[in-house]
Amino acid sequence: MDEMGKKRVLFICYSLSGQTSGILVRLAAGMEEEGVEVTTERLKPVTPIRFPLGGFSATFAMMLITFFRNRVPIASLSEKSREKYDLIILAGPTWSYHPSGPILSLFNLEGQRLFKGQTVLPVISCRGYWRMHWFGIRHLLAKCKARVPNKIVFSHPTKEPWRTVGVFLKIAGKNPNRSRLLGKVYPKYGHSGDQHEEAFRFGRMIGNALTEDTPLDDLNFHTPLALP
Ligand SMILES: Cc1cc2nc3c(=O)[nH]c(=O)nc-3n(C[C@H](O)[C@H](O)[C@H](O)COP(=O)(O)O)c2cc1C
Repeated sequence: MDEMGKKRVLFICYSLSGQTSGILVRLAAGMEEEGVEVTTERLKPVTPIRFPLGGFSATFAMMLITFFRNRVPIASLSEKSREKYDLIILAGPTWSYHPSGPILSLFNLEGQRLFKGQTVLPVISCRGYWRMHWFGIRHLLAKCKARVPNKIVFSHPTKEPWRTVGVFLKIAGKNPNRSRLLGKVYPKYGHSGDQHEEAFRFGRMIGNALTEDTPLDDLNFHTPLALP
């Protein structure tokens, strides 16, 4: 809580193609609407990763190394990460069924300092396969003795198999949504406008729970819009 009595939330996040960031912008707006102060700490890889990766072999290679939970070294966190917060939102994409490399590095670098005794709400952005990521991050947070009351998962709303094909092509630098044939079944990469509005609603729910001192555990984030 700050000196004005406002609840304080720290977003620690990584986003390669802007999808997690898009969800977080609306989540933060919803919380701020409820009078919560939001501070954001973006994880920055020491060697920036460009998006798209630019080619099929680079995409295959990244999918393979990320499957083995390759850490991506990150720059040190700013001083604001040392302040006191009522809640930390830990957000990032799924990479080959696991948390992304920068988030894995964060646990090695700062896990105990940031999360010990802290309430942490993970936010996952993925094309649809998030369960192993969730089990993994919950385990890592439990090892740091964090309290994890709930989770938010947003998966891309496009139907399979086009979702997988579309994500792969997009990462490789193609534009499946602009193709005459694929564009009909894959109109957009990533999350929809409706999902952004759902994130805003979730933000208000969290903001309200924080200001009213009610538990985050019972909030329902498992909705058909978030997880179509
Ligand atoms: C290397 C790589 C591996 C991925 N593996 C998965 C996966 O296993 N499951 C899944 O649902 N999505 C997977 N995705 C898709 C991303 O999780 C999804 O596009 C997410 O919305 C991207 O979020 P961002 O833009 O914040 O990085 C993968 C993406 C990349 C780049």
